[in-house]
Amino acid sequence: MVDEKAIQMAQEKFGALVRRQLERVEVLKSEGDWVDYSKLDKLIIGVCGGDGIGPYICASAQKVMEVLLADKIAAGKVEIRQIDGLTIERRVEVMKAIPDDTLEELKKCHVILKGPTTTPAKGDPWPNIESANVAMRKELDLFANVRPVSVPELGIDWTFYRENTEGSYALGSDGFFVSDDLAMDFCVATTQGTERIIRAGFEHAKKTGTNYVSIIVKANIIKTTDGLFVDLADKIAEEYPGVKHDVWFVDITTAKLIDPARRSDFKVFVLPNLYGDIITDEAAQIQGGVGTAGSANIGKRYAMFEAIHGSAPRMVTEGRAQYADPCSMIKAVALMMDHIGENEKGRKLGMALDICCQFEKKLVMTGRNTGATGDEFAQYVLDTMGRADLEQVWQGYVDAAIAKNAN
Ligand code: IPM
Ligand code: MG
Repeated sequence: MVDEKAIQMAQEKFGALVRRQLERVEVLKSEGDWVDYSKLDKLIIGVCGGDGIGPYICASAQKVMEVLLADKIAAGKVEIRQIDGLTIERRVEVMKAIPDDTLEELKKCHVILKGPTTTPAKGDPWPNIESANVAMRKELDLFANVRPVSVPELGIDWTFYRENTEGSYALGSDGFFVSDDLAMDFCVATTQGTERIIRAGFEHAKKTGTNYVSIIVKANIIKTTDGLFVDLADKIAEEYPGVKHDVWFVDITTAKLIDPARRSDFKVFVLPNLYGDIITDEAAQIQGGVGTAGSANIGKRYAMFEAIHGSAPRMVTEGRAQYADPCSMIKAVALMMDHIGENEKGRKLGMALDICCQFEKKLVMTGRNTGATGDEFAQYVLDTMGRADLEQVWQGYVDAAIAKNAN
């Protein structure tokens, strides 16, 4: 016999979820325009260390950021604010993904540099509360998760525009058991949320002159939400006659990214949240590992920059947190520079990271005392960036790698 009471309870729960999403649509309809950083008297950058290795690698990245912005900080044009309270202990204490007072402080900043935070999962010693990353993306409406991956010698220059507030993540902590034997999760797409991420991807393709966008879905199976993604991509493409676009299924995309004959053709990807999460880890691995990739979480009002990897609590319990690789966080600083209009600094920091992490490797991070500490590595990156011949050195390495690859 079907349990009618279970159906009724499920309907009530589902109704409440739908109501919240419809309310969100109303908010989306009235969202403001992009904040213009050039018009601010002072740019406020919040720094939250996070958990595990977070505070260590975040401090190394902060050091780099402070050197890059030294003149602006001295002139009172940039203020760096330390924001506490985003630790797993504190979040568990108040049983919130982001404690209220911390959220209030975050909202007083314009941009945020954030170390990895522990995301509780079933079976962990922590209560299974919502991820702080996911909550921050939702609370600050950071809808575009921009993740560049480049391997110049392989001709790879990809930028991923991962939708960051909807898809399978929107109600990721709101699924429920309808009965003892029936568990359900939900996937959400709104017109407004989908249009803005697709437009961001097309804008990027146009601005950078790559003029090519690949939409990644599984619309043959996930017909409604992914179907909307495809339909809106077709519609928005009409606004960008110079930008070519195509649609790929996510499964074959995982294969094509490791296909040397095809992968360098891809330029800009736009993907729903969960596919974006998965594909960007794969892409980062092709670049040299998740430790090498930064992540920009962009909204019209706020932006947050972070590593793409987790908090590696084991490194702390084993006493080796100071050996954690800060490159992903330093890369996040480079992305922040681009976002706040310091593009030249972002570009140079990117080149210095390529030299230090991929080519010259004068210092190596091993994650233990056989390698450099995060602070030593950050200093190495800074020294490299300060080299007068930075451009030539970078170009030399890239040319040599291209030549080697051709053989
Ligand atoms: C990422 C991470 C996060 C995500 C986790 C830590 C919540 O994997 O930024 O890709 O799933 O989005
Ligand atoms: Mg991920």
